[in-house]
Amino acid sequence: MNIQQVGVVGCGLMGSGIGQVCAQSGYQVVVREANSELLAKGTGRIEKFLQAGVEKGKVTEAQKREALSRIRGTTSLDDLAACDLVIEAVTENVELKREVFATLDRICKPEALLASNTSSVCIAEMSGVTKRPSQVLGMHFFNPVPLMKLVEVVRALTTSDATVSAGMGFVRSLGKTPILAKDTPGFVVNLLLVPYLLDAVRALERGVASVEDIDQGMVLGCGYPMGPLTLLDFVGIDTTYYIANILFDEFKETRYAAPTLMKRMVLAGHHGRKTGKGFYDYPGK
Ligand code: 3HC
Repeated sequence: MNIQQVGVVGCGLMGSGIGQVCAQSGYQVVVREANSELLAKGTGRIEKFLQAGVEKGKVTEAQKREALSRIRGTTSLDDLAACDLVIEAVTENVELKREVFATLDRICKPEALLASNTSSVCIAEMSGVTKRPSQVLGMHFFNPVPLMKLVEVVRALTTSDATVSAGMGFVRSLGKTPILAKDTPGFVVNLLLVPYLLDAVRALERGVASVEDIDQGMVLGCGYPMGPLTLLDFVGIDTTYYIANILFDEFKETRYAAPTLMKRMVLAGHHGRKTGKGFYDYPGK
């Protein structure tokens, strides 16, 4: 499949990153958001990231301008009709995702591939509402998308070999490394990462060490780029709580059970960086 034009549904943290890396890799990109305010916020985030890249000497001014010129924003899904590949990156809500896939299936050309960036919803939920289940796959990017090298390509029961191979090729064309995973909760990375993050919260609850010392332990002792509690603030405590609940529902193993403290923090609105408070404070957010 010759992919030239890519659609991205949702221009939040993940969708804007996905749109950006596709545009930087030479694809024509159409990003869709629900309203013009969210769209302006999303495209503004792309401009800001590219500008920061220019300031760091990682991106030239010309590359920034070219990438931005390849991105078209819209609030209408109909504008994705000509795309060869559409990547859905809306919030982790099954009903919303099913609705998006049913609409995309209706408007996109028959040969187009439909991918989801979901980290927790099974791909079968989305492929099941389309008439092209062999052309539906998972494409799970990591935060921050422009910097993280990995993408999990997820093969659902119905995904064809041709779709998997097109997905793997597309990820490589973005300069990223794909790994192939089955359509099971957490795929590879979250299956291993989430219990580790939950254990860090349990260690804090038990008073094993302070927030700072737990983080320092894993950064300096294991060479991780961020400590687990910093990473939780970065990814979103609410997001991780949501994924943990999905893993627990599926496997019924205590290692996936969200700790008491985590649930209280979510209920209190302490979701991490994005709300200004998590395990650390982020003044000004
Ligand atoms: N444009 C281009 N390049 C940029 C850039 C920009 N705007 N901003 C930074 N960079 C480059 C830097 O120049 C640097 O490149 P270099 O290594 O060649 O010098 C590199 O990106 C790293 O940038 P920084 O030095 O500014 O930042 P840090 O070294 O502090 O790294 C980080 C930041 C990449 C976020 C690092 O802390 C990290 O890897 N953290 C862990 C993140 C992680 O685990 N993410 C996965 C979360 S789980 C997930 O997403 C799954 C979901 O389902 C929950």
